[in-house]
Amino acid sequence: MSFTYLSARRILPFVLLFGLFFSCREQESPTRERISINEGWKFMKYGSPEVADSMFYDVRPEILTVDDTKAADTPATEAEQLKASKKALKPYILPTANPYIKDPLKHHVRPEGHPGSDFPLVQSSYDDSGWENVTLPHDWAIAGPFQEGPNPDVGGGMGRLPSNGIAWYRRQINISKTEQDKVIYLDIDGAMSYAMVWLNGYLVGGWPYGYNSFRLDLTPHINFEGINQLAIRLDNPNHSARWYPGGGLYRNVWLTKTNKVHVAHWGTTVTTSKVSKASAQIGIKVHVVNRSDSDTEIETITKIYPINNGTIGLQTAATEKVTTKIPAGNTATLNTATTLENPRLWGPPPTQTPHLYRAITHVSQNGVGIDTYKTDFGIRDIKFDPNQGILVNNELIKLQGVNEHHDLGALGAAFNVSAATRKLHILKEMGVNAIRMAHNPPAPELLELTDKMGFLVIDEVFDSWKRKKTPHDFHLIFPDWYEADARAMVRRDKNHPSIVIWSYGNEVGEQYTGIEGATLGKTLSDIIKDEDPTRPTTSAMNWAKSDMPFPTAMDVISLNYQGEGIRQDPIFDTVTNRIKTKPQYGPFHEKFPNKVILSSETASAASSRGVYLFPVTDLTSSPIRDGMGGDSNIRQVSAYELYAVDFGSSADKVFASLDKHPYSAGEFVWTGFDYLGEPTPYYESRSSYNGIIDLAGFPKDRYYLYQSRWRPDLPMVHILPHWNWPDRIGKTSPVHVFTSGDEVELFLNGTSLGRKKKAAYAYRLRWDDVIYQPGELKAIAYKKGSVWSEATVKTTGEPAQMVAVADRDEINADGKDLSFITIQLTDTDGLIVPTADNPIAFGIEGPGEIIATDNGDPTDMTEFPSTQRKAFNGSALVVVRSIPGKTGKITVKMESDGLKASQITLTAVPKKR
Ligand code: GAL
Repeated sequence: MSFTYLSARRILPFVLLFGLFFSCREQESPTRERISINEGWKFMKYGSPEVADSMFYDVRPEILTVDDTKAADTPATEAEQLKASKKALKPYILPTANPYIKDPLKHHVRPEGHPGSDFPLVQSSYDDSGWENVTLPHDWAIAGPFQEGPNPDVGGGMGRLPSNGIAWYRRQINISKTEQDKVIYLDIDGAMSYAMVWLNGYLVGGWPYGYNSFRLDLTPHINFEGINQLAIRLDNPNHSARWYPGGGLYRNVWLTKTNKVHVAHWGTTVTTSKVSKASAQIGIKVHVVNRSDSDTEIETITKIYPINNGTIGLQTAATEKVTTKIPAGNTATLNTATTLENPRLWGPPPTQTPHLYRAITHVSQNGVGIDTYKTDFGIRDIKFDPNQGILVNNELIKLQGVNEHHDLGALGAAFNVSAATRKLHILKEMGVNAIRMAHNPPAPELLELTDKMGFLVIDEVFDSWKRKKTPHDFHLIFPDWYEADARAMVRRDKNHPSIVIWSYGNEVGEQYTGIEGATLGKTLSDIIKDEDPTRPTTSAMNWAKSDMPFPTAMDVISLNYQGEGIRQDPIFDTVTNRIKTKPQYGPFHEKFPNKVILSSETASAASSRGVYLFPVTDLTSSPIRDGMGGDSNIRQVSAYELYAVDFGSSADKVFASLDKHPYSAGEFVWTGFDYLGEPTPYYESRSSYNGIIDLAGFPKDRYYLYQSRWRPDLPMVHILPHWNWPDRIGKTSPVHVFTSGDEVELFLNGTSLGRKKKAAYAYRLRWDDVIYQPGELKAIAYKKGSVWSEATVKTTGEPAQMVAVADRDEINADGKDLSFITIQLTDTDGLIVPTADNPIAFGIEGPGEIIATDNGDPTDMTEFPSTQRKAFNGSALVVVRSIPGKTGKITVKMESDGLKASQITLTAVPKKR
């Protein structure tokens, strides 16, 4: 099977001559405006649901039992039935889904009436001066406080933060008389959740699912004489997720203004075929809507430009001009094409470059430009080979992937480009080339970053269908919204070259329902393919087997943990009520010889950065119990990186399984970064233990294990544990080494402990009988007999000072840009003290603000905005944000009793265009 996507160009020689003066500005549309309305919002959250208004979307089932620690592989039970109440506003919201419901007979009809029109909070006259001023993206829960103790309202699963509740956002927008011929849309990239939007007292519509972007047409309710009052009600249920969802208008919000005749929402589709280095065919489908009262004839042309380091280059191709008639109130689809010669292909580094192009579609009426619409895309050929994996431009790219939830650690769910960029750079440095968006569509800007940086992406829409995982999750709205949500994801994201696979589910309960679940899966897959026939679909399975109906619907087989097998170790012999699975690559490959198999989740290994617990297992993979990699008193998991959740496996075990099944396309590790919520195995904590990188963005030891495999050409060697063990003198203290070399000699205080070679299917070198003596461990790694890399770990003195390093010394003075400053506690020789947990007080001077601190400790319940933070195993993090329009030097100061005070200077610079 071959899926070729996105574009190509023909270099028009005359364009090279005349195009030189085709500046970026000329490409900007005078006819379409996309205005950020992130500033100037008022926000109010009710103290509890009891005191909230009754403008609810729908009634929810009563929660009879709550098991916050319920493992993710527990079979789902039957979805609960909703009894629709007469007062529910759902019938007024459902029509927002109509553009995404293909069968017109299934379109929702808005009932009579104007719910809420007399409700004070939606009126422009309402006095909201006492409400909080907020700037979007805004996550109302991240500031905390954490809910500690045994019976919190929001449990560990959802991160112990107050994401639940009902809240309102209000903002005025000014529209002038001169705009009365315009169409005005509100574009919300993500609202958590059950958004309902009023404009000037009129309920316009809404979107319950918090992860999709949606558009509302404000035009009919606009006052073109000035002030317009927007009022948005969000209602974020507790027990709605297995992780931290965040709460609020947590992504960007825009006003889009167009002429009556304009390119529709997400209205272009760019596809490519016959892609080679010599040429590529580009197909550009454009939907144009005529919202005027009269029939019209329009002309469109799409011009193509390369994007060079973010700058638009010279036009390199153009489609033919196409003319079409659009009757009043109708939409026309224009199919155009062009050929590009010598296309610069999009592909993942390090072997390829993620080149991007921009298609600019011009729409004109009687020779006058009426709309201009930009679509960024890439040109690449993707083939799926069931015996090898995924080929990008004919190069086999094994998936070195990670799963990522949407939160940005201490910043919560509020999307921020600098934070996401930092995350992707840290992943890239480890050797990651693929990301699975677990388990929902991400912020659109994240996909722009994955396009630019060349990651391969699985875009995933649902974690549950009809069958629930938590009492108030998506299953409550699945019947009404599944088609709209599935189509919305694809329509928004289809032009991103980084996306290679659509996923319509993760470990859904319908795996257990035989033909019924398979049929529903096929319905979802068909919907996605109807929107985008060029990419394959999948749905991740942790239970369905090759002989069951469920996998038949999907193009790509996605296994969660099943590739290497689940609970196959003797320790589980007496466990009878949990999923046990023999390794499944073989059976699936045999049953589906024409389908690519990948592991959409592997490992779920767990560890706490810098925590080493003894004794160390002899196995290559072990579950976590007290005295066996875990300590429930301190709620930490050993960073010997051999321990995993019961259904998971260590990285080492997964690598062996992949190597023994070379037809597997590769893996997506659960997870790259730690995330808020789901703190298996210690649900009293706030954040996960599964990350290869901790919540603050500091690599755990595992980082180097993955790097040693994923970047074989990078000379590196990494030693664990640290060597500060005053209580272990004379005790056996295993030393493990990760290297991209093939052999290592280990020395303790200058004495060789032997030279060891990696055995077949072994990915670390172990010296398990080292007797601890303080001093220095040194590892010399060899590759093919020659010295490849060296590392040392030394016993340190007491913490004496703080060393601060910023990921960026210069930030834009736009009120959004961030600098992440890592503080390391060192001894007088500058060695990081690996056990230091001194409290640090942060201060700031100049045009910046401290928005969060963290240390990566899953048990730390200090609120994220606090400027006091204990170090955790030698490190802490402080995040500084610029202030809009204020440039100059920012000084961040750190003080800690008994340590030398320290500071670091950043510069806020005028925002570059
Ligand atoms: C998987 C699930 C993930 C996460 C993970 C934790 O089964 O798909 O969402 O819960 O387990 O180990």
